[in-house]
Amino acid sequence: MFEFGNIRFRSVEREDLKLLHEWENDSELMMFSRSKPMNFASMAQLEKQYEEWIKDEKTHRFIVELMPQREPIGIARIELQEWGNIRAADLGTYIGNKEMWGRGLGRTITVALLEISFNQLNMERCDAWSVEFNERAHKVLELCGFRKGGAIRQTVLVNGRKWDSFHFDILRDEYLSRRDDLLKETLGPKYTQYLEQLQVVQ
Ligand SMILES: CC(C)(COP(=O)(O)OP(=O)(O)OC[C@H]1O[C@@H](n2cnc3c(N)ncnc32)[C@H](O)[C@@H]1OP(=O)(O)O)[C@@H](O)C(=O)NCCC(=O)NCCS
Repeated sequence: MFEFGNIRFRSVEREDLKLLHEWENDSELMMFSRSKPMNFASMAQLEKQYEEWIKDEKTHRFIVELMPQREPIGIARIELQEWGNIRAADLGTYIGNKEMWGRGLGRTITVALLEISFNQLNMERCDAWSVEFNERAHKVLELCGFRKGGAIRQTVLVNGRKWDSFHFDILRDEYLSRRDDLLKETLGPKYTQYLEQLQVVQ
């Protein structure tokens, strides 16, 4: 478990597949998260995918819960990658409960992913990809210190139009120089408590 402000990351359990089935078949959500509004995922396909996830040691997948009620609101992912000999993580998230969009949770989830990646997994850099029209996601990434590196042009077709895939990244030093401000902004009154938890073994 990783508790961070008003959210908590926990592992994905078989019982969560019902919820994932709902989210993965939501065309608006899939349009923004995967650039695939026509994503149809049957329960059997999700079960098969889950079996692969269990074996996959390169990707950490989490259910994001809203605390203290422990309500599952979305998923988050850290995929370990290597750029030559540099440790890197590709980050991703979606909030499946759309009523929760625009309340600052995406920002909290993204900072939590950066905390785990840099402060626990010892990454040198984090990457994220987002489709051209997903301005909300771009805003969140930039608020968390990511920079837009470039665009891979016309990689997806959604609603009859071709769109670019935008690449964002953040280096370890860039995160560390902003870390304290980001933690204060996202954790609010829980900032001190979070740092105290980390000091237990420092
Ligand atoms: C992207 C996502 C994770 C962001 O989480 P969120 O909780 O909705 O976002 P937040 O409330 O933390 O922040 C949204 C920011 O974008 C801004 N914003 C909202 N809509 C926007 C738009 N259309 N254009 C530009 N900025 C926008 C908000 O004003 C806010 O900025 P502020 O804090 O300065 O006011 C969430 O909306 C989501 O799951 N969307 C669908 C799936 C998805 O896009 N996943 C990411 C794939 S890369």
